[in-house]
Amino acid sequence: MKKVTLKMDVERPKSRIAPEIYGQFSEHLGRCIYEGIYVGEDSKVPNVNGMRTDVVEALKKIKLPVLRWPGGCFADEYHWKDGIGPKEKRKPMVNTNWGGIVENNAFGTHEFMELCEQIGCEPYIALNMGSGTVQEAAEWVEYMTYDGDSELARLREQNGHKEPWKVKYIGIGNESWGCGGSMRPEYYADNYRKYRTFCRDLSGNELFPIACGPNADDYHWTDVIMPLLKWHTKAISLHYYTIPSGNWEHKGSATKFTKKEYYQTIRQTLRIEEIIEKHLKIMDYHDAEQNVGLIVDEWGTWYDVEPGTNPGFLYQQNTMRDALVAAINLNIFNKHSDRIIMANIAQVVNVLQAMILTEGMKIVKTPTYEVFDMYHNHQGTTLVDSVIDMVETGMDDIVIPALSESVSVTQKETGSFLSYITLSNASLEESVQVRVQLPVNQKFAGVAEIAMLSGEADAHNTFDNPECVQTQKRQEEWRGNNAIVTLPPCSVCSISCRVETDEFH
Ligand code: AHR
Repeated sequence: MKKVTLKMDVERPKSRIAPEIYGQFSEHLGRCIYEGIYVGEDSKVPNVNGMRTDVVEALKKIKLPVLRWPGGCFADEYHWKDGIGPKEKRKPMVNTNWGGIVENNAFGTHEFMELCEQIGCEPYIALNMGSGTVQEAAEWVEYMTYDGDSELARLREQNGHKEPWKVKYIGIGNESWGCGGSMRPEYYADNYRKYRTFCRDLSGNELFPIACGPNADDYHWTDVIMPLLKWHTKAISLHYYTIPSGNWEHKGSATKFTKKEYYQTIRQTLRIEEIIEKHLKIMDYHDAEQNVGLIVDEWGTWYDVEPGTNPGFLYQQNTMRDALVAAINLNIFNKHSDRIIMANIAQVVNVLQAMILTEGMKIVKTPTYEVFDMYHNHQGTTLVDSVIDMVETGMDDIVIPALSESVSVTQKETGSFLSYITLSNASLEESVQVRVQLPVNQKFAGVAEIAMLSGEADAHNTFDNPECVQTQKRQEEWRGNNAIVTLPPCSVCSISCRVETDEFH
């Protein structure tokens, strides 16, 4: 067994970890909204105003901070007025991006806002720049946020919501370099400025506009839009999906993969750190004051769909491999929380790297859900200095770091901290013993709550066996200057423990 040291220092704060890093994405795609979230008031599935109670409760438990909607590619063909008013009068549309099925618009603005209220999360609305108009986008903002006596505010009241909603996050265009309009960055930036001008802060509601940023390693996009948008946007987005082979034509199965494909997946996911750092360099070059944040508003694994399911629905299973992907990405986002202010895994239910899978009345929480549950303590805490020794893993030509970590704290009282440590071991062969080492003036002081998720790389939960992959929890007395935790192969671990500094004694 390899032995390594994780050095952490609760007195060396770095940046606040925005809760929004633990955000999610929901699109009118496959069974994400319909069946996954919204079943309608008359469904046999227990629901409140049409929202599945089991899904809402599960998302509350992981403290979901923000939910992006209605897409994705769907957003740039979505006309919000089709999704308000009496359901039987709502205009159906063809969901051209996702399976060509008919969308009946039963789930629209009011339903989405109700969902966010039930979960207790912030809405993040993706406006239609691709096929919509500036007027349509501006009117949506007015419909949602205006408090006065305008026609749109009255229409909102007629539709059952007198009070305006608070809407902070608005995305202006999704993948405008691709499904959102195949635009050049110069053209996109000009368009963005027009939309931003007319989508106004109304009735005390302050918008936080987000511009469409790059696709993965398209550094040219960032380099062009940053000087044109830095005074007009609060953040730019980044989309990066983990595809095992890196080849969109042959993505591979979610559950049946070789050891080599497993390591390829981890290598692909680790690429995101280099991509983030390069984009941040370009952003810093144009915006030395760092006024513009980075939002990774689509990330996660993308495999071939489950056999027998609609290829346009992007339904995939989720294994321990996905748990490792989630853990690694979240540690990377935490470590860059000085610049990454939000992230939204794709997607929340039944699509891509989902938290939850549903089938009729049944629900399965995936290994990725378990990781979000283990990591949610980081939300709103302060990242502190930490470093772990390098252990390499992989096979053949794949040589990658096995371990990832991040550490954060909340200060309880002078000299006393609650610290949260999250770790992952991507090796399929080796356990690693980690000595968690504090500086001489700091001590662990009490019970450490340790949560461990481990298993075979392809282990997953099914509707017949929903508890195959489960987090194991235990408590240990951690006292003194260091403590030891052993990470089994293919594992994710979270620890919360108290640390006192000399000043406290
Ligand atoms: O998440 C699925 C799709 O991936 C989104 O609609 C799009 O933005 C991205 O290409």
